[in-house]
Amino acid sequence: MTETTEKVDLPASVSTTSGVKGLVDAKITEVPRSFRYPSSTLSNNRPSEISGLNLTVPIIDLGEINNNNTSARNAVVSKIKDAGEKWGFFQVINHGIPLTLLEDIKQGVRRFHEEDPEVKKNYFPTDSNKKFVYSNSFEDPYKSTPLNWRDSFTCFLAPDPPNPEEIPVACRDAVMDYSKHVMELGTLLFQLLSEALGLDSDILKRMDCLKGLFMLCHYYPPCPQPDLTLGINKHTDNSFLTLLLQDQIGGLQVLHKDYWVDVTPVHGAIVVNMGDFMQLITNDKFLSVEHRVRTNIDGPRISVACFFSSSLFPNATVYGPIKELLSDESPAKYRGITIPEYTSGYLASGFDGKSHLSKYRI
Ligand code: OGA
Ligand code: NI
Repeated sequence: MTETTEKVDLPASVSTTSGVKGLVDAKITEVPRSFRYPSSTLSNNRPSEISGLNLTVPIIDLGEINNNNTSARNAVVSKIKDAGEKWGFFQVINHGIPLTLLEDIKQGVRRFHEEDPEVKKNYFPTDSNKKFVYSNSFEDPYKSTPLNWRDSFTCFLAPDPPNPEEIPVACRDAVMDYSKHVMELGTLLFQLLSEALGLDSDILKRMDCLKGLFMLCHYYPPCPQPDLTLGINKHTDNSFLTLLLQDQIGGLQVLHKDYWVDVTPVHGAIVVNMGDFMQLITNDKFLSVEHRVRTNIDGPRISVACFFSSSLFPNATVYGPIKELLSDESPAKYRGITIPEYTSGYLASGFDGKSHLSKYRI
């Protein structure tokens, strides 16, 4: 779809530079055509129609880990193994990130998105290597078709951290503080995941899974016709691991046994999910599962997704299935690939809902 046809079905008073939030601020009452998904895509096989299935994303209490008690730690590791294998998703509570900081980062994200469009324009994607990029649905070089009902910004945090001045004041302190805690929680989770694979605690760290980190902070404005569009089309994540903070509104769904299951907001919890690179290096032991975000008439909804991945940054490491997990009975299912090569293909695929990972299957 070209820029011109997209603009045709917007009210004349609305400029695309003010994002989806701009449409809502202009009090549109109908979802423009460029945002509408086929009803077959939106249909929801509601899990409540299926009896006898326990369709709740597992909630794991990291507070149960006690460094003097190996069996308590192993019990947590076993829950993580189960969740990684069956769901690809779980929620963690008592994860060590202060609850006040969770509020601060959500507020900071909201404050930035509610700034004047003129302020946000300064952060639009350009050719320069900006660390902080605001990309609303219209201006995103990798936008999906149909468009998503959201505005977002990205902040690249590792391996090359931003100067605080590169981050807008509205969320600067919160982004810097939150990213430090996410790195710590990520370090613990990669240890637990290594143990869940039956390998050395530090194997994933040694493979540089923690080397790259970027944050994608979403603002899903209230939608006048929530059943016609999506906040994010179905996709898997281009990461080793994703740590997501969502507010209390809800809308995130994961595809489990062919049903869209709600990831119900749990106060103070962080949602953890396996990305494509985790599925690749674990040779399908851990699953990178499709998920999407429904829109809501309430809102705005705020979420903060932190991806452990070096994204497009130069990184020559070739990733393939971990040798220790392979045997004659369990041969490698994927060929090796670098993160930048994978990422450019993933972005170019235009979020068509197909798994990009399957292209690297042997
Ligand atoms: C993502 C994502 C979910 C959410 O950013 O990849 O899946 O709830 N976000 O915003
Ligand atoms: Ni995602």
